[in-house]
Amino acid sequence: MIRLVEVGPRDGLQNEKSVVVPAAAKIALIEALAGAGLNEIEAGAFVHPGKVPQMADSDAVFAGLKRKPGVVYSALVPNEAGLERALKAKADKIAVFTAASETFNRKNINASIEESLARFRPVVAGAAAAGLPLRGYVSTAFWCPYEGKIDPLQAVEVCMRLRDLGVNELSVGDTIGKASPDDVRRLLAPLLKRVKPGDVFLHFHDTYGMAVANALAAYTEFGITGFDASAGGLGGCPYAPGASGNVATEDLLYALQASGAEVPADPLAVARAAVALEKHLGRTLASRLSGLARA
Ligand code: HMG
Ligand code: MG
Repeated sequence: MIRLVEVGPRDGLQNEKSVVVPAAAKIALIEALAGAGLNEIEAGAFVHPGKVPQMADSDAVFAGLKRKPGVVYSALVPNEAGLERALKAKADKIAVFTAASETFNRKNINASIEESLARFRPVVAGAAAAGLPLRGYVSTAFWCPYEGKIDPLQAVEVCMRLRDLGVNELSVGDTIGKASPDDVRRLLAPLLKRVKPGDVFLHFHDTYGMAVANALAAYTEFGITGFDASAGGLGGCPYAPGASGNVATEDLLYALQASGAEVPADPLAVARAAVALEKHLGRTLASRLSGLARA
């Protein structure tokens, strides 16, 4: 069974620059995505509200959610202040985030990789004390918008540092959507010597249109079944210039299903949930299946 972490309400909406999507519309999106069968949804980020204004209302989003039993509503957290907010909001799971590139990390969270890991120590302890599961993102694991190509062993090293902290679930990110299946092979080969495939999620953005091909290579050649994706292909990172949205959940689910995998949600139902958000975005979404959902 494919494990899909839907990151549209966080990674997707954080990057909408020209509109403010009201909390009620975010809640409606999250509820529709749960209704479509997705069972893990990153519902918001407890980051500095001035840095990512689109996530400033994550407290209200969590408070207003009608939670579907069995669905994990997770939150992105950069530090202890974020953890406090996430605990108050009753997030089901905590995601910390660092990077394989020093320059990107500094721009994104104002910390070196080493400093970010030190910041996570109390976050990990606090989440564990509250009985919450954790994931750790490693951004720019393939390419960095500032440093160019990243040595796969550097990305593996950061993954291992997160594991040493007690973060078992890794989400390895192609933040600027530039990786190819070959890049994926070069990273997964050394990573999977040290971490079992079940602990690895891949987080592909789709700037160069390679995300589905990357995911299929990871699934068919390495047995990876964990993926992040964003309904409608929403997304990007405000600190990764030029990066497009994540791979569209519906397109990825279709590709995996067509390759013989069991998937948690109906691709067209996910596309319909994404299309319903378009009136708030003032634009049409670009996923392949969104056209069918509009028809
Ligand atoms: P900083 O300025 O170094 O933080 O930012 P600080 O600790 O010095 O605090 C400065 C001010 O921020 C203080 O307030 C704190 O209280 C406040 P002041 O005294 O000035 O009034 N503050 C907070 N307020 C609310 N919630 C908090 C919080 N923390 C501090 N959690 C910090 C460091 C990490 C906070 C900041 O740089 C930040 O929030 N960055 C977030 C950037 C971000 O969200 N980027 C996008 C997500 S990452 C991504 O998209 C990649 C991913 O998808 C994977 C991939 O694609 O590769 C995950
Ligand atoms: Mg991302």
